[in-house]
Amino acid sequence: MNFQIRKMTPEDVANVFEIDQQTAGLYWPLSSYRFETVENTAARNWVAENTERKILGFLILWLILDEIHVANFAVSPDFRQRGIGGALLRHGLKAAWDEGARTSFLEVRSGNTSAIHLYQKFGYEETGIRKSYYQDNHEDALMMTLYPLAYQNNFFRQETP
Ligand SMILES: CC(C)(COP(=O)(O)OP(=O)(O)OC[C@H]1O[C@@H](n2cnc3c(N)ncnc32)[C@H](O)[C@@H]1OP(=O)(O)O)[C@@H](O)C(=O)NCCC(=O)NCCS
Repeated sequence: MNFQIRKMTPEDVANVFEIDQQTAGLYWPLSSYRFETVENTAARNWVAENTERKILGFLILWLILDEIHVANFAVSPDFRQRGIGGALLRHGLKAAWDEGARTSFLEVRSGNTSAIHLYQKFGYEETGIRKSYYQDNHEDALMMTLYPLAYQNNFFRQETP
């Protein structure tokens, strides 16, 4: 399907918030999205939109020195499994690499197999567990790390994920 990835702007916040609400047991308040797009200088925020300019998914990353953290990430339920999440992550990681990121961290619900598969496909490894981390259902969080060699392999080997 046809879509492009571009930087998230404050005008996208309402649509991004809607996707997050449709997705997560715990979702960020609208004010957090405003903060990420307007104030947080560490934030690197991306959206995927179709040719009719409908927002299909988003990715919020935080760049801290040479580390890029996946802070929030979702594709609209109607548009999943069409390559949009992978394209967002690839785009965000590549742009962060170009800014000096060499490793990436994230936390993911231990039962979120689709996201875990996606991260593993990109070379992230399980590196820890936070017991009962999520307040809504006390689910564990898996901590995952993309180490520099695997990160580099994403962009400098011939076949990319
Ligand atoms: C995780 C998420 C962003 C993936 O987005 P997506 O657009 O569906 O992903 P893609 O179509 O690009 O799939 C890329 C890879 O993810 C994995 N994947 C995606 N959906 C999957 C599913 N239902 N089951 C297993 N693996 C899945 C696969 O490895 C897939 O690669 P493949 O197609 O070669 O098998 C999406 O499922 C989502 O929004 N989930 C809810 C929010 C969320 O969990 N965010 C992450 C929080 S840490």
